[in-house]
Amino acid sequence: MNFLVTGGAGFIGSAVCRHLCANPAYRVTNLDKLTYAGNLASLRPIENAHNYRFEQADIRDERAVLEILRRDDIDIVMNLAAESHVDRSIDGPGAFIETNIVGTYRILNAALEYWRGLSEERKSGFRFHHVSTDEVFGDLPFDGGMFVEETPYAPSSPYSASKAASDHLVRAWHETYGLPVVLSNCSNNYGPYHFPEKLIPLVILNALDEKPLPVYGAGANVRDWLFVEDHARALELVATKGRPGESYNVGGNSERTNLGVVETICDLLDLRRPRRGGASYRDLIAFVTDRPGHDRRYAIDASKIARDLGWAPREDFDSGLARTVDWYLDNKWWWGPIREQRYAGERLGQGSIENSPTQNSPVEHKTFESSPAGNRAESRKVAT
Ligand code: NAD
Ligand code: DAU
Repeated sequence: MNFLVTGGAGFIGSAVCRHLCANPAYRVTNLDKLTYAGNLASLRPIENAHNYRFEQADIRDERAVLEILRRDDIDIVMNLAAESHVDRSIDGPGAFIETNIVGTYRILNAALEYWRGLSEERKSGFRFHHVSTDEVFGDLPFDGGMFVEETPYAPSSPYSASKAASDHLVRAWHETYGLPVVLSNCSNNYGPYHFPEKLIPLVILNALDEKPLPVYGAGANVRDWLFVEDHARALELVATKGRPGESYNVGGNSERTNLGVVETICDLLDLRRPRRGGASYRDLIAFVTDRPGHDRRYAIDASKIARDLGWAPREDFDSGLARTVDWYLDNKWWWGPIREQRYAGERLGQGSIENSPTQNSPVEHKTFESSPAGNRAESRKVAT
């Protein structure tokens, strides 16, 4: 079975590629534009695998996507490519509209043209899996309620509004053109290779640098946390066994306040890397101005995917967070260059809009064949 994973150099996409490549019956093409969030170092464990190849391309480049779909005889598209950080969407919504909405529209067009040219047998097996978020459902009160698949969409941020729009496009391509699509809406992921703009890796790395640990507002907002490898397993099930036209909620059943998460990280680090002078990392916690439009709480009812596809998370939050802290302690080779060259942890998302097009400038489409020298060794221009 041949997979095209878009956004496979990102946090979740790279976990999906690593997971799928462990199955020798699968072949995986990873298509990624390599924005600030994309990192080929996250693919190091599989970069020489015979069932893996990398393509540098933009999902907005319909022609390049179609060429790859045909060349690699793709059976399943898993669309993870996106601008993913809420705070950046507050500062610069333009890139989110471009990739999350226009990009989804373009890749749907490419998939539809490809699908129409397949034999009847291959047509019925083909899937377009769109990977989405629980944030499309909007703000839940602190004292109750959970998102089910039928919860009406009510996004609050430019990020979640752009993801909601893309979900609607995917459904429309199913209803109108018959493209066999499946969708999944997941809660907050955490784990290894997480870009340190997001709460958990940011707090771990700021703590190690003895910098303030920024908690928005009073830290009372609640998120439902899922270990990224559990999400990767859920995505494989949705893509290969999900029913066309349906969506599946995915969550960790691990609701925590942000302050609770930050304090737990501090306690884990106090045991593993005690500060000089015996102070606790908790002393670095700094309450800062809240995020504009900050949703209070997200909570996922994941009973449909458990019932229909037999999925359950394997990692609980305490063990998963301990694994994550240990991974960051052991893997400075991965995060050191990011903190030095890409993002050092400064505050984002305070609402001064910049609509710079530079983040989404056209990309040269390059092919990286798997080779003993690794996928950074060769590149050839296919199209621009
Ligand atoms: P990420 O920001 O870590 O990675 C996104 C990847 O997409 C990067 O490698 C980037 O280079 C690539 N990309 C961006 N624009 C592109 C374009 N135009 N063409 C091709 N590639 C492009 O994101 P993530 O956290 O791994 O999230 C992946 C997907 O899962 C997103 O669709 C996101 O909305 C969704 N999601 C994320 C979470 C979470 O907690 N992180 C939870 C639920 C759903
Ligand atoms: O719910 C799924 C979503 O989870 C995904 O769709 C998004 O792509 C992903 O980024 C994540 O969104 P959040 O906004 O919930 O994640 P983030 O790590 O940015 O923030 C988690 C919570 O922590 C949120 O309530 C804001 C708060 N926060 C965040 C940062 C970066 C802080 O208190 N301080 C911080 O410095």
